[in-house]
Amino acid sequence: QSILFVTSEIADYIKAGGLGEVSAALPRALRHSYDVRILIPGYRQVLSQIGAVEEIARLPASFGIPECGLGRGTTKDGLTVYVLLCPELYERDGSPYVDSFGQDWSDNDIRFARLGLAAADIACGNGDPLWQADLLHLNDWPSGLAAAYLAWRGQHIPTILTIHNLAYQGLFERDRLPSLGIPDAAFHINGVEFYGKLSFLKAGIFYASHITTVSSTYAQEITRPEFGCGLDGLLRTRARQGRLDGIINGIDPSWDPSKDPYLVSRFSAENFRGKRANANTVRKSFGLALSNGPLFAVVSRLVHQKGVDLAISAAETIVSQGGQIAVIGQGEARFEAELQALARRHQGSVGVRIGYDEGDARRMYAGSDFLLMPSRFEPCGLSQMYAQRFGSLPIAHRTGGLADTIEDGVNGFLFGEPCLHRFTDAIKRGLDAFRSRPRLSAMRRAAMKRPHGWDSSASKYKEVYERACQTAAWA
Ligand code: ADP
Ligand code: GLC
Repeated sequence: QSILFVTSEIADYIKAGGLGEVSAALPRALRHSYDVRILIPGYRQVLSQIGAVEEIARLPASFGIPECGLGRGTTKDGLTVYVLLCPELYERDGSPYVDSFGQDWSDNDIRFARLGLAAADIACGNGDPLWQADLLHLNDWPSGLAAAYLAWRGQHIPTILTIHNLAYQGLFERDRLPSLGIPDAAFHINGVEFYGKLSFLKAGIFYASHITTVSSTYAQEITRPEFGCGLDGLLRTRARQGRLDGIINGIDPSWDPSKDPYLVSRFSAENFRGKRANANTVRKSFGLALSNGPLFAVVSRLVHQKGVDLAISAAETIVSQGGQIAVIGQGEARFEAELQALARRHQGSVGVRIGYDEGDARRMYAGSDFLLMPSRFEPCGLSQMYAQRFGSLPIAHRTGGLADTIEDGVNGFLFGEPCLHRFTDAIKRGLDAFRSRPRLSAMRRAAMKRPHGWDSSASKYKEVYERACQTAAWA
């Protein structure tokens, strides 16, 4: 069977967050069972790294954009990647979604509608003359419209939409409808309309044959108003229909502290003495004093979702107990400024780097004793799994994937409400464990040995694919 995996980022070439990592890993976990191919916009970062791209088709002009090319390339390990060649939409400096000032690209509706339309074309065999898809796997709002374009054409190709984060919905004004080829009749509660706006994510949820999200707990949470971002009603309906599942993400095998080339010293669950050298490197590079005390890390996008404000408020407790904190992140300016002020107030105890650096992140997971992750909501979360794998115990809010991957007091610490009081309680429990070496070692070992691979999740995706294909066969 052939599957087209549609994504707006892939870690091989361009990544804004966890979606990029999942897009790199999941197709690879499935490639032994299916002919999985990826579709991605031809961003500058993709074209400059993928090597030879052969143009295999021209796709018709649409949305006021002249006809564009469909290229085919391959990753280093041989995965086929379809690249949507449209320089005026994709060849720019910046991230997939925002410009270098952090502003959404003003033509994001056209950029991702074009992606959705190309996906629908390829799926039907109007892209690659030699290939078409039995199933379309869409991810988040940027590919949501693909399911809708197929439905409007009366094509019954099964579509799976994976929600990595319900909070990003791709909302646009109603007057954009005609320019995106969306029929007026679809601007309806049973369609693409969301409180008077056009929602790409809602379109995906409404028209896809099946919805998955990235943990069981988040799958339940999003059917409730507190987490449903206004879409909980539709999601409840899908859950009742048996069309909503939670499948936890895995992590890539390259996250292995006994092999990681970024670490200054490698280690394993049997012998983690090597953590110390990494801790000292982190201390040095973040301007922290040398110390035998506990080292806490924050590796995060600096946004409200991640509870950055809670981490900032909890710093006093940590520092007053002899702990140190290293933070790497970027995001909202107010959090960046507050963190920098915190580091100035606690020189030698709090070190902050604004930016994105994979090597720093890996050394921080490896060198720290604890990872702070007080996310208000967390669909899955990869950081806590990387931390566990590297023997750093996550201290996290019991929500979404954090609740599903962390066992409180066994391989990390969980707290019930995203408030400072509960968070500092959990931090204090962490500090207690730190003072009891045998307990700390046992927890570290448990965290490092927790199964983190993709195998079991890949089997669950296979079940969902089979079900979607069967349902489509008699639809
Ligand atoms: P999200 O996708 O919501 O940001 P995840 O936990 O799923 O959250 O994935 C975040 C990924 O991004 C992790 O791999 C984490 O290590 C990485 N990351 C986040 N911020 C930084 C940073 N400033 N530098 C390096 N890596 C980062
Ligand atoms: C999103 C979520 C994160 C999840 C990632 C990959 O970015 O915020 O929790 O791990 O997608 O699915």
